[in-house]
Amino acid sequence: MRKHIVAGNWKMNNDLPQTELLLTELLKQNQTSDAEVMIAPTFTNLWQAFESLRQESIEVIAQNMHFAENGAYTGEISASMLKSIGIKTVILGHSERRAYYNETDESLAKKVDAALANDMRTIFCFGEELQDRKSENHEAVVESQIKNALFHLEADAFKNIVLAYEPVWAIGTGETASPEQAQDMHAFIRKTLADKYGNDVADSVSILYGGSVKPGNAKEIFGKPDVDGGLIGGASLNAEDFYAIVNAF
Ligand code: 13P
Repeated sequence: MRKHIVAGNWKMNNDLPQTELLLTELLKQNQTSDAEVMIAPTFTNLWQAFESLRQESIEVIAQNMHFAENGAYTGEISASMLKSIGIKTVILGHSERRAYYNETDESLAKKVDAALANDMRTIFCFGEELQDRKSENHEAVVESQIKNALFHLEADAFKNIVLAYEPVWAIGTGETASPEQAQDMHAFIRKTLADKYGNDVADSVSILYGGSVKPGNAKEIFGKPDVDGGLIGGASLNAEDFYAIVNAF
């Protein structure tokens, strides 16, 4: 049985007092759920969030990390640093990092390797841009993103990989992929995995959808058979909205 996961990507939002406030609000909402719930605060607030949620069923995860173990990489954070404060999951390959920080499939492959070498789970993000969809190239783009960054892995590694399909045109725009568009792409992704690794692996990997998921559309999107959860941006900054999405399962 695949895990259902709802993860809030806070991006570069919330300073320490705002983080403390949102954590308090989240704890008021937190109740047992069918989905694994995660939040990804910014680096400076990871420890605070981890401490506050230590006994809770909300996992604190990181938004990014470097591929090297340590060294002369000013401003970067390594897997072992994250692990040393209790972080066990990292988001890699978000389209904002690809667009603004030149992350490529090749550098992401190295980051995925570093996460796996440190026994960390990766939420690996990918997705096409608007022109790719308009030119009906979206499946080819997504297929190459997955193949280039992940297909050097052994099948066993997929125990620690979660996929997140985030069409770039739907991120922060209020425009969501329709539930059918999400399902079609998720089924395509699963088939791509099955062709390479077989059905057992393909059926075991959770594939999340991200891009303007809100309380009003979550149920319909999560109702699709190949959508195993969501990566939530804007709506994760409001505890009530976030839990309305979590409870859509
Ligand atoms: P929004 O939910 O704000 O569209 O962001 C999605 C996202 O980028 C999550 O990683």
